Amino acid sequence: MPKSREVHLVQRPTGAPKPEDFALVQQAVPDAADGQVLVQNLLMSVDPAMRPRLTAGQALNEAMGGGALGRVVQSKHADFAVGELVNSRNGFREFFTSDGKGLSKLSPDPDLPLTVHMHALGGTGFTAYGGLLHIGQLKDGEQVFVSTAGGAVGSVAAQIAKIKGCYVVGSTGSDDKAAWLRDEVGLDAVINYKAQPIRKALEDATPKGIDVYFDNVGGEHLEAALRRMNTLGRIPVCGFISGYNSGHSNVGNLSNIIYSRVMLRGFVAPDFIHLYGDFQRDMAGWLKAGQVKYQETIREGIAAAPDALIGLMAGQNAGKMLVRLAE
Ligand SMILES: NC(=O)c1ccc[n+]([C@@H]2O[C@H](COP(=O)([O-])OP(=O)(O)OC[C@H]3O[C@@H](n4cnc5c(N)ncnc54)[C@H](OP(=O)(O)O)[C@@H]3O)[C@@H](O)[C@H]2O)c1
Repeated sequence: MPKSREVHLVQRPTGAPKPEDFALVQQAVPDAADGQVLVQNLLMSVDPAMRPRLTAGQALNEAMGGGALGRVVQSKHADFAVGELVNSRNGFREFFTSDGKGLSKLSPDPDLPLTVHMHALGGTGFTAYGGLLHIGQLKDGEQVFVSTAGGAVGSVAAQIAKIKGCYVVGSTGSDDKAAWLRDEVGLDAVINYKAQPIRKALEDATPKGIDVYFDNVGGEHLEAALRRMNTLGRIPVCGFISGYNSGHSNVGNLSNIIYSRVMLRGFVAPDFIHLYGDFQRDMAGWLKAGQVKYQETIREGIAAAPDALIGLMAGQNAGKMLVRLAE
């Protein structure tokens, strides 16, 4: 019976989450009984969507949930063998037992690092792919703006748009991330929205307007983009992170969509699950060819998980924020 440490939410944050909102708790996890597996988590994902759940949805004094990649270490389940890798929603803990529901096996690509299955070749990459190509109906050579372009979803969306021959502007919140986007990724223009007002900077960076704005931020970013949208432009709304701590993110000029006939559509990745095979084939090829580059920020050990979430909301991650729980 292994001892497992897990992260509990012990009080609901007001504004940005703080260390005292969380507690690290040790639990004894039962060995696998008949029909069960015992899984040791190797990596867990840290996602902005966790912040709204801290306000409503995540129970207090229970292990938090989130995407995780683990290894089966005991099995009394006919479908799982010891040593197999499984994805689950049981992050924020070191071990768990399961009857197999909610587990999906992962056969990692032998030519790529395991971690890419947690971002570019996993959920955030798929979100970018379907959000841009299916929801955003991107056409080759269009004018594109992507916010949080230095993050997990945004960096992939921006690079897919480059692969499609588009003119791509990205916004991000640090000079280091801006330099990576400009020098390594080759975006056409990069805005550090903390160093220059987004509205004026976006106006200067988009002389031909915007056909597709891939919105991860809402608020002032969306307002700035709405002023620049071309006729029949599309705005796939992926996230609204500027409002996750406060619970609101105001946009004052939504009426701009009328005369420009702009399509504004929120989405979640299951909306285009039928594209998953195409995504895996395309993304694995782009990663191996170096056409999609990525950054990772990996914190070590379960005790670092609350700080990883706090840091994500403060923009401390370059690329995907992960926590490594075991080798
Ligand atoms: N619809 C879906 O199915 C789906 C799935 C996954 C993610 N999402 C959404 O996609 C967005 C990006 O997620 P991700 O996992 O790729 O995270 P990420 O971009 O890797 O990390 C979050 C980043 O957001 C930026 N940020 C934080 N507060 C901000 C603010 N007030 N204004 C502007 N930027 C801010 C920070 O970067 P800077 O340094 O640039 O400030 C931070 O690094 C989020 O809105 C998320 O909710 C949606």
